Amino acid sequence: MSSIEVIGGEQLKGELRIQGSKNAALPVIAATILNKGKSILRNCPKILDVYHMVNILNELGCETAWDGNTLYVDSSNAACSSVPEESVSKMRSSILFLGALLGRHHEVTIAYPGGCSIGKRPIDYHLKAIKKMNVTQEFIGENDTMIHCYTDRIIGNDIFLEFPSVGATQNIILTAVLSEGTTRIFNAAREPEVTEVCNYLIRAGARINGKGTAFIEVEGVKELHDVDFKLSSDRIVAGTYLAAVAAARGNVLFTNTPTRHLDSTLRVLRRTGCAIEATEDTIKVESKHRPMPIDLLRTQPYPGFPTDMQSQLMSLLCLAQGQSTIIEEIFESRFQNVPELRKMGAAITLDSKENKAVISGVSQLQGAVVEAHDLRGGAALIIAGLAAQGTTVVRNATSIERGYEDICRDLSTLGAKIRYCSENTIG
Ligand code: EPZ
Repeated sequence: MSSIEVIGGEQLKGELRIQGSKNAALPVIAATILNKGKSILRNCPKILDVYHMVNILNELGCETAWDGNTLYVDSSNAACSSVPEESVSKMRSSILFLGALLGRHHEVTIAYPGGCSIGKRPIDYHLKAIKKMNVTQEFIGENDTMIHCYTDRIIGNDIFLEFPSVGATQNIILTAVLSEGTTRIFNAAREPEVTEVCNYLIRAGARINGKGTAFIEVEGVKELHDVDFKLSSDRIVAGTYLAAVAAARGNVLFTNTPTRHLDSTLRVLRRTGCAIEATEDTIKVESKHRPMPIDLLRTQPYPGFPTDMQSQLMSLLCLAQGQSTIIEEIFESRFQNVPELRKMGAAITLDSKENKAVISGVSQLQGAVVEAHDLRGGAALIIAGLAAQGTTVVRNATSIERGYEDICRDLSTLGAKIRYCSENTIG
């Protein structure tokens, strides 16, 4: 199991280009199944979750190839409609193949995805929606762990989502693109990653209106055609590195940034005292002092403050000149970092009833050996380590590689003292 060692106290300076978006790449990779031809995906991040989705494409009969950050997919001969159980258990985003395989083959067999450290993450909204589109669902396999969905015709319908679920919105769109009739999604997710998969599909010939709004309409078409598509940059990676500069202090210019997707994150970082100048694709951030506290920070569906930035802000606010409160509204157990931050001297109290954390800022954190419990939590512990006195070792760092191409390379470029280390080299 790999670890990352951070020697705190170095300010961050220089320039860094932001990678392609993980959460845009994953649904678009699934969507390539719907186009019985060639897709070119540019600015695709080379991360574990993407490699995993590409492996599934290969298992489904697609041909894939890389050239730098460009992924080539040929789905002409993708004849298989079942996703191996271990594929879904390894990464729950594989569930996005549900809609794509249904749309392509009118049949899909896929494992029911388990939860993860941040929550149970059921898929009831997904299944309820596609059932309304003339799709039969059966639970099969030992202990009913597999879902088999099939239909002779996918028929568009009105779908009312009780919560603007990103994955459910994406799966409904993927199911509807090659269906008969029109599907209207009410209370759709407005995340940029939903817009991204719509942009890919529209470029390939799909008829979709309302992308980025809470009302999305998909008019089924007969087929899609080849497409050359450039993925946006990753708003959460950008937000993570901005928070790192805020915590470690310094002065950094980020390029290739998806600035238009970062409004709520930039607003919160400015409230902590960062000086931020932004253009369409660059963000300059300067931090000279201990951060100011944030009275109340709630995570919300887009365009509210993203849950995927919550852990990173918590690390920053551990150092604030006062008390901050964070309420996590999206996932039921996304405060896994709290015991790890406490090992570093953070003063945080939890109210599990309200999913609330109250953080009393301290002037200094101390380096410690801590555990990454999930992707964003791991990145947040690195942020804490950058600002801490002494050495921090983040164990289970592989979870960070699921979403960040090379967090050690990136932060070292900015002057951080950070490196991968194996368990047995922990000093
Ligand atoms: C996407 O997950 C992202 N993942 C998550 O990012 C992100 O945190 C989340 O959206 C919220 O923005 C990808 O895009 C690959 P949801 P998703 O369906 O689609 C509940 C990261 O670190 N729910 O919007 O799974 C669910 O339990 C990851 O990059 C149901 O109850 O999120 C959660 O509480 C972490 N039933 C809430 O809705 C359902 O059928 C939001 O989930 C579906 C969801």
